[in-house]
Formats: sequence, structure tokens, C-alpha cells
Amino acid sequence: MRTQVGIVGAGPAGLMLSHLLARLGIDSIIVENRSRAYVEARIRAGVIENWAADLLAETGVGARMQREGLVHEGIEIGLHGERRRIDFKRLTGRGIMVYGQHEVVKDLIAARLAAGGKIEFEISDTTVHDFDGKQPKIRFKKNGQVQEFSCDFIAGCDGFHGICRPSVPAGVITEYERVYPFGWLGILSESPPPSHELIYSYTERGFGLYSMRSETISRLYLQCAPDEDLAKWPDEKIWQELKRRLGPDGEKILKTGKVLEKGVTAMRSFVIEPMQTGRLFLTGDAAHIVPPTGAKGMNLAIADVLFFSRALDEFYRSGKTALLEGYTKKCLARVWKAQRFSWWMTSMLHLNPADNAFDRRRQFAELDYVTTSEAASKSLAENYVGLPID
Ligand code: FAD
Ligand code: DHB
Repeated sequence: MRTQVGIVGAGPAGLMLSHLLARLGIDSIIVENRSRAYVEARIRAGVIENWAADLLAETGVGARMQREGLVHEGIEIGLHGERRRIDFKRLTGRGIMVYGQHEVVKDLIAARLAAGGKIEFEISDTTVHDFDGKQPKIRFKKNGQVQEFSCDFIAGCDGFHGICRPSVPAGVITEYERVYPFGWLGILSESPPPSHELIYSYTERGFGLYSMRSETISRLYLQCAPDEDLAKWPDEKIWQELKRRLGPDGEKILKTGKVLEKGVTAMRSFVIEPMQTGRLFLTGDAAHIVPPTGAKGMNLAIADVLFFSRALDEFYRSGKTALLEGYTKKCLARVWKAQRFSWWMTSMLHLNPADNAFDRRRQFAELDYVTTSEAASKSLAENYVGLPID
């Protein structure tokens, strides 16, 4: 077996990369250690930036998103229950697309397979080799048998816990990291969302986020301890806390329903530099993690693979390596701005146990400012809908 680009991981990054490359006439193989059913059911992100929604549509994988996704023109920010709207459309001329990451994954898998794309699901023991030369190799086990293929480049799209980043020789990568003293307890439920738009709610009890997947399915999050024990959270207690963190009218506006999924996510900011070594290129969560408050993770993954696909296109067309060499710089200029935004949103909206009464008042003043100043709300809006991509 041989291909031009060997891709490890069939998350948004790996699948979108394979899709973009196919449109450029570049061949790829994806290896993924989970089953197709598993990756298609994995509930994760829900907000797609404006340019990324356009990219999905322009490249022929946006039809269902355009039918079933929800275009939102703003968000609400709650200050101890008082909700104030940030009007993205008025401030930036743009909106966002609310559409589940697992739906994007389903659409991309369907498109790849329909176009004859190769995805090896349910493999194990992936290893990457020889990326310091011109003939890298990917080795893995399928049905107990060792298999191997060679390629020109390896794309490490295997997420934060993947094997590609740890395969980079010691001393090449510098890691930048911040771990937060809180996490999110998230549920997916059969219930209508409390508002037509997302609510980011700051309260004395902690942060709550009220998102959705449709008019009848809600995606709701509570700030919790990073190692929160889910067993201590029966559904009834989750609903009660979600109502309280909406403010005085929480009881009235939050409808309850069957809980379809429940989980705890710890939060970290993480970036590596460089994102490449030899012919191994890391993308998405394999290279950087943001805390989820700004809804940036999947969008950054899509931006990385767009830049990588352009670099490969230039290489295969002309033999030039300038874009490949500039890959890290190009990605990180965007990544660090998203890191800054995600850190800022997270710090502004969560109760940090290390903060004192001064910090709480400063935090409230910041929320008050950002929801009343045209300049400050415009800055939030332009980052949230997605900085321009070039
Ligand atoms: P992943 O989605 O992690 O995909 C990596 C793939 O590689 C997986 O399929 C994995 O099974 C596979 N893999 C791993 N190891 C191997 C191996 N050794 N061999 C083969 N395959 C392997 N982002 C947003 O943009 N907006 C949001 O609203 C948002 N909300 C979020 C909410 C939560 C609760 C969480 C947890 C995340 C959220 N994110 C959000 C972040 C977003 O989900 C991630 O940034 C995104 O999944 C990154 O995509 P990826 O393809 O880089 O990595
Ligand atoms: C969702 C997740 C986020 O992190 C966010 O900021 C907004 C929405 C969601 O899952 O819907």
C-alpha cells in the first residue's frame, strides 16, 4: 500500500483534510482506531465559525448543515440572571452556525466513502516512522494483522491523546500550557433550549452554558470541579442546578427532558511549537487545545487542515516547499489569537476558587463593560464569529 498523504485520525481534522486533498487531486488514506459508529456518535462541539461553515458548503459537504443547522445572529450573556444580548449580525455583519461536530463527521465520512476515499476504521497499535526522510511509513494492526503503508507526508490528526505528537523526537517541541481549576459537566437532553440563542451565564454559583442542537434538543453545561464525580450528579440535581444558574426565571424558562448523554470535561490551554518536524505535520487537537468557552477547537482544526492542504497543493503542483515550511507560523498566528480569546472568555465567565472579592468585582465589571460598550462587544463578536481567514 502507498498513498501521498497518510492521515492518522478520523476526527474533523483528518476527515476534512482528506476531503480537501481529494478535491485537489491528492490521494490519502485515513487510519482511525475507533469504529465508524463510535466517531459518528461522539458528542463534542456545536458552534461552527462563519468562514468554516462557508468552506463546508463551498466544498460540497454543507447541504445537510444548511438544511438542519441553526444560523445564530447573536448570543446572550447572563450577569447574575440578567441577560444581555451581543448582536453579532449588527456588530460584524456575520453570524455562526450551530450544528453538531458529530454531524459534520457523519457528512464528511459519507462524502469520503462516496468518492472512493479510504478510511481504515477499528485499527490499533498505530506507529509512524521515517518522517525525517522522504518515505514516511504508517504501521498499524487490523484484525490482528500488522499492516504498513508508505506515503510522502504524515498528517497527525489524532487529537490530544494521539500517538503522533509523542512520536516527535525529544527536544524538537516546546509546550505551552495552562490548566484551569474547573471543568464542565455537560448533558445532551430531549428538551427545548431556554432561549433561541446560546446563553453564557455568570452567577455566584458558577458558570452555566445553555446551547442546543435543534429546537427540541439542548446541550447544557455546568462549571464543576475538573475531576467532578458524575455519580454525585443524578439528573434531578443537574436540572436543579441548571435552573439556578439561569437566574430568577430559570425555573420557568428551562424545560427538562430525557438526558441522552452526560460527561465531564477538564479544561486546559495547550500549544506546541513547532507543529511540524520533517514530513510529519500535526493538526487540530494533536497540536493545541483550548478551553471550550469560546467554541474554537473544531474551528482551529479546520483552519489547520485548510492551510496544510494549500501547502501540499503548492508542493505537488510546483515542487515548492515555501508553504510547507511556513505551516507552523501560518497556523500559530491564528491559534494564539484563539487561545487568547478562549482564555479570556473562560477567565471572565467562570468562578476561580483562587480569586478573592476584588477579583469577583473586577470580573463583574468586565462583563458589564463587554455587554454595554460598543467597542468591547464588537471585539467579542468578531472573535466569536471567527477572525477572517486568508
Ligand atoms: P479529535 O476530534 O480528537 O479526533 C482525533 C481522532 O483520532 C479521533 O477520532 C480518535 O479516535 C483518533 N485517534 C486517536 N489516536 C489514534 C491512533 N493512535 N490511531 C488512530 N486514530 C487515533 N470546538 C468548537 O470548535 N466549538 C465548540 O462548540 C466546541 N465545544 C466543545 C465542547 C466539549 C465538551 C469538548 C470536549 C470539545 C469541544 N470543542 C469545541 C473542541 C472540539 O471538539 C475539538 O477541538 C475537535 O474535536 C478537534 O478535532 P480533531 O480532529 O483535531 O481531534
Ligand atoms: C457549545 C460548546 C461550546 O464550547 C460553546 O462555547 C458553545 C456551544 C455546544 O456544544 O453547543
